[in-house]
Amino acid sequence: MSALIHPKELSARQRYRLMISLVVPRPIGWISTRSADGERNLAPFSFFNALSSSPMLVGASLGRRGGGPKDTLTNIRQTGVFTVNLVGSKHLDAMVRTSGEFAAHVDEFSDAGLQAAESERIDVPYVADAVAAFECRLFREVDLGASPSVLVIGEVVAVHLGQDLTMDPETYHVDVASLDPVGRLGGDEYTLLGEVRVVGRPEGDAGGGG
Ligand SMILES: Cc1cc2nc3c(=O)[nH]c(=O)nc-3n(C[C@H](O)[C@H](O)[C@H](O)COP(=O)(O)O)c2cc1C
Repeated sequence: MSALIHPKELSARQRYRLMISLVVPRPIGWISTRSADGERNLAPFSFFNALSSSPMLVGASLGRRGGGPKDTLTNIRQTGVFTVNLVGSKHLDAMVRTSGEFAAHVDEFSDAGLQAAESERIDVPYVADAVAAFECRLFREVDLGASPSVLVIGEVVAVHLGQDLTMDPETYHVDVASLDPVGRLGGDEYTLLGEVRVVGRPEGDAGGGG
């Protein structure tokens, strides 16, 4: 079977389904923030990725709900800081639970039975036993035109590595088996680490771009 699809001929729902089931697996940024009143918030975002390593930048595309910004975006706009927790398989169920459309005052850490730990550089907690977590300062908010979403880019100012993580202290290469990452597929489907293949790059490619 082959098909050619023009995005403009689809409904918004169809475009969303097509996009999230084709671009897989996606890493999940499990973002914690604090409201201006100090209330904790935690929610997952899989329109998320690493954008740059020097400086270390990560980005997440945050949608809208009921015509207004989601709590995560409201909080980031108010405080300029957030943490990104990386999701290991042990947190798959808890991560999904925190995606519930809760009222702004609900503390998703408590609701999902997660311990919070205080960050070092910013006043936002991270998931205490996350496999790893980034402390981020807002670098830029990028308007995405007609999209109801905005791209939030954060500069990583501190990196927490969980105690189960194995990292080469010379190269800083993290052993992916110890990270045990969860990837988002389409809909409610997720994938865990499967077969890992090692393939060397052609000579002359220093690999700086990721
Ligand atoms: C695995 C997963 C990935 C998600 N990715 C996104 C995303 O990239 N962008 C988005 O706006 N919402 C995404 N959501 C939905 C949000 O997590 C959900 O709307 C949440 O309630 C937002 O919380 P907040 O209002 O506290 O910010 C995702 C949900 C799940 C379960």
